[in-house]
Amino acid sequence: MPTQPIQRLNHLLDELGQVTDEPGRLTRTFLSPAMGRANQLVGRWMKEAGLKVRVDSVGNLIGRLEANVGARLVHARGRRQATPLQGMTLLLGSHLDTVRDAGRFDGPLGVLLPIVALAELKRRGVTLPFAVEVLGFSEEEGVRFASAYLGSEGYTGRLSPATLKLRDADGISVGEALKKFNGGRFLLPKQAQRTSNLIGYVEVHIEQGPVLEQRGLAVGVVSAIAGQSRFKLTWTGKAGHAGTTPMALRRDALAAAAEFAVGVEALARRTRGLVATIGVLQVSPGAANVIPGSVTHTLDVRHADDRLRRRALMAIGRLATQIAGRRGVARAWQRTQENGATPCSRALTARLERSVKAVQGKSLSLVSGAGHDGVVMSALTPIAMLFVGCRDGLSHHPDEYTSPKDLGVALDVMVDFLQRLAADYTG
Ligand code: GLV
Ligand code: MN
Ligand code: MN
Repeated sequence: MPTQPIQRLNHLLDELGQVTDEPGRLTRTFLSPAMGRANQLVGRWMKEAGLKVRVDSVGNLIGRLEANVGARLVHARGRRQATPLQGMTLLLGSHLDTVRDAGRFDGPLGVLLPIVALAELKRRGVTLPFAVEVLGFSEEEGVRFASAYLGSEGYTGRLSPATLKLRDADGISVGEALKKFNGGRFLLPKQAQRTSNLIGYVEVHIEQGPVLEQRGLAVGVVSAIAGQSRFKLTWTGKAGHAGTTPMALRRDALAAAAEFAVGVEALARRTRGLVATIGVLQVSPGAANVIPGSVTHTLDVRHADDRLRRRALMAIGRLATQIAGRRGVARAWQRTQENGATPCSRALTARLERSVKAVQGKSLSLVSGAGHDGVVMSALTPIAMLFVGCRDGLSHHPDEYTSPKDLGVALDVMVDFLQRLAADYTG
């Protein structure tokens, strides 16, 4: 068992990276058997670091380290008095689910790094005057139900009845999956924490882009997370014989979807900052000699400016109407996700930045194009994010990689951040 914190972190990332639902590649999705094994494994590591562990009704893994009572008290005018942090909790975390054929870092880093940082503080005999909760969210990627953030929505009491109705590829709804997970009974969870008891939520995540690497920096802070809309679209034409139906008489649903995909790509290419992706597509009935009768696909659209994202969505809607009309094909939309751009807290980010400067010499502020659990957590408490560089900016890919050196900087920043936060409040 590695004893140096950085070796330990690497070792944990490697071990968790083996926990998968699909042999030969890393895939862990919401409430799957691999997610259950991941919770057991990470829960064990949390316990070893001195945390008390539970799994909530949406499958989030939660490790809690209580405040050190002695450290919570300071001498004020000769009396021992509670500091402003008495009864307060700092939240640290990220997600434990993955995309299909994922890398080892996206999500797990933000759960495992805090565990190793807290173990390191314990080894140094440092105690904190506030409680810390390390959160391993059960769902952030939106792989199983095409809607992201189910874990943090559960934790913050924001899981909606509409979300419970979404169905996976096997026709199982979110509500049915959660009912089974909870042994037959599931009630929408309430907010897990009172806002007034929270210091904030800090998430460590790989950058998933090339900027830090290009600037020769290990870490940076996030100023805001781009807004995001996701949809499920269905095009319905008419299936028929591929050999006998003349081209002019066809209502080919796949041709309509393909024209739409290329049109959306062109729009995103000419709109600065806009990104749009069709990542899943199903053709029915799905035979080489049958004209596609219907096609269902996802659409993910993001921009850091909500106004420009909404304007793009209107243009995309008009494009779909025009294609459907011209081709005699019907189309239906279901919005599966909608999140506005999320600014990080200036005050909490300034504290994180102070530690980045102390460890790295300088800091850099970045906008995140990727979605993060912080989007949902921001409804509960101030958020801040630490980005760690990754090789070639590559993510959502098995070759995702962050060097031990950069991980070491991130770990030092977290340890420094916790120590300074404790010192700020205990005087
Ligand atoms: C999560 O990784 C997302 O941005 O889709
Ligand atoms: Mn992530
Ligand atoms: Mn991801």
